[in-house]
Amino acid sequence: MRKKIIAGNWKMNKKYGDAKELMMRINTFMQTHSSNCDVIIAPPFPYLQKAEEIFANKKVKISAQNMSDQLSGAYTGEVSAEMLQSIGVDCVILGHSERRQYHAENDETLFEKIKIALEHNLTPIYCCGELLEDREAGKEFEVNKTQIETALFGLTEEQISKVIIAYEPVWAIGTGKTATPEQAQEIHNYIRGIIAEKFSQEIADSISILYGGSMKPDNARELISQPDIDGGLIGGASLNAEDFTKLIAICN
Ligand code: PGA
Repeated sequence: MRKKIIAGNWKMNKKYGDAKELMMRINTFMQTHSSNCDVIIAPPFPYLQKAEEIFANKKVKISAQNMSDQLSGAYTGEVSAEMLQSIGVDCVILGHSERRQYHAENDETLFEKIKIALEHNLTPIYCCGELLEDREAGKEFEVNKTQIETALFGLTEEQISKVIIAYEPVWAIGTGKTATPEQAQEIHNYIRGIIAEKFSQEIADSISILYGGSMKPDNARELISQPDIDGGLIGGASLNAEDFTKLIAICN
């Protein structure tokens, strides 16, 4: 039985004081409510160490939003897997559509990043998802397949078992347009199917596949109740404690 996961992707939002307050409110919630789901937050880099301190009880896992494809050295402005590991970070979001769009990340580089993350005991949260034009052209299966194949099929069975996948249709991110539970389930089931074909049914059944794209308290229940949707990667609704903790409660 896969455990549900609620992950908050804060993107480039919040000044330090506000970020700290949000973390403290989530922490208070986690200390006063029992939770059956795994909770992850991905604050911006400068706040990761504070997050490690606030969640020293490990009730919430901490994720970075990106990391370098290089190990160390003269790469101004980059952050390495080793740095993240050395401050206790648990996960790293890789391949978010905003990184693909604004920073030209591609599946080949993401494959390298995923391997580096795993070598440093960081759980990759690998994002895939089609553009609106892909869906309109009926290419949603093909696009997701290519993204999964190129970035994940070169991994060993042991490695792929440690990856979390997030299906994030780009047309649903930050737009208020959520995929219907049926649309999301269809792709989640498809992704699980190609993983079963390449690796094994057992591995496919054990991998968590999150949905991302305008998930909020009022649409989460239906999405999360789909058989192949194991939780959410949440942007906008992870930025306030009330919505985020409601999402955690829905997952329980
Ligand atoms: P959203 O973002 O919930 O604001 O649509 C999701 C994401 O980009 O991970």
